[in-house]
Amino acid sequence: SSLRIAVIAGDGIGPEVIEQAIRAAEAAVQRYSPARLEWNRLPWSTAYYKKHGHMLPPDGWDLLREHDAILFGAVGDPSVPDRITVHELLLPMRRRFDQYVNLRPAYLFAGVPCPLVGKKPGEIDLLVFRENTEGEYAPVGGRLYPETPAEVAVQTALFTRRGCERIMRAAFEAARRRPRKKVTSITKSNALIWGMGLWDAVFEDVRRDYPDVQSHSLLVDAAAMDLVRKPETFDVIVASNLFGDILTDLSAAVTGSIGLASSANINPTREYPSMFEPVHGSAPDIAGRGIANPLAAILSAGLMLDHLGLSAAAEAIRQAVAAVLAEGKVRTPDLGGSHTTTDMGNAVVAALQG
Ligand code: NAI
Ligand code: MG
Repeated sequence: SSLRIAVIAGDGIGPEVIEQAIRAAEAAVQRYSPARLEWNRLPWSTAYYKKHGHMLPPDGWDLLREHDAILFGAVGDPSVPDRITVHELLLPMRRRFDQYVNLRPAYLFAGVPCPLVGKKPGEIDLLVFRENTEGEYAPVGGRLYPETPAEVAVQTALFTRRGCERIMRAAFEAARRRPRKKVTSITKSNALIWGMGLWDAVFEDVRRDYPDVQSHSLLVDAAAMDLVRKPETFDVIVASNLFGDILTDLSAAVTGSIGLASSANINPTREYPSMFEPVHGSAPDIAGRGIANPLAAILSAGLMLDHLGLSAAAEAIRQAVAAVLAEGKVRTPDLGGSHTTTDMGNAVVAALQG
């Protein structure tokens, strides 16, 4: 059987890291799974926008729906505002395809320099479940009296009981399958009394259905501090769109590099394709130099294989990345080395081929 993957490599380092992710996924699937992958490369990017006036063709969403999954690099270029690149492709995709779970693992691999003192490999091992379709990133608001002293902006966060409940249930289900079985809900209901008030109320309801899982609420500011002071105390974190976004840059930083942070945008009902992407952006500051770390993209491809049911191939990718990092012979500059994106991709492929 052949699984169809739509590939949107995008801008900047997107194409550089995605090429290595495809190679790694191919190597893993060839060795560890009977399935076949078919890669459909779509050119949607800033260059495409400049040529056509839109980020994707009018039938683009329908075309994407014909795929089993989407592998995404990054979009964003200094020559075009993010409100076009990011807001016409990435954010609408998450909402249109109801990819309400944004899963972002953070794991301290052996061989990766941790900026915190005394942390052992594997000691930081957490999953962030970020709500991905509403909350603070709901496109609700407006600006009045532009460029006058009276200028006002309103940005409204939108929380629904259904939206809170479904991301929380996803987090509890995942926690149930992990050894520590613990969920931390990130809140700020002391200041944001309505939206976060609803968030907390739903969490109280949902946690009652999971007596086998330890659960508690934590204010976002305290959570930021604890992710630095004692990240090992976290297992599964469930957070709103904004809080999850910010805390996952932090969890990426404490586990060594944004170049290692993978993510999945999942539509759990499988009505629509899910999308897999590194947490990082297009990194215009290093684009075109072949020095971006491809491991975040490779690990994201691993999350994709897992979602597609190819769990042996997915696990092989994780093991291969762990082995390459532990060996420490090949390191891109973000990890303190001087190897290239391709060197790193080669090392992972070699590890997969045994
Ligand atoms: P960024 O993640 O692109 O870069 C932040 C810093 O991390 C830079 O110094 C960069 O060199 C470094 N970095 C990122 N990925 C790396 C990798 N794989 N290996 C080594 N170093 C890496 O975030 P930034 O600079 O804020 O945004 C750049 C553009 O990307 C913007 O247009 C932004 O809107 C867009 N963006 C797009 C995202 C997406 O498509 N999912 C996500 C985040 C940002
Ligand atoms: Mg972010």
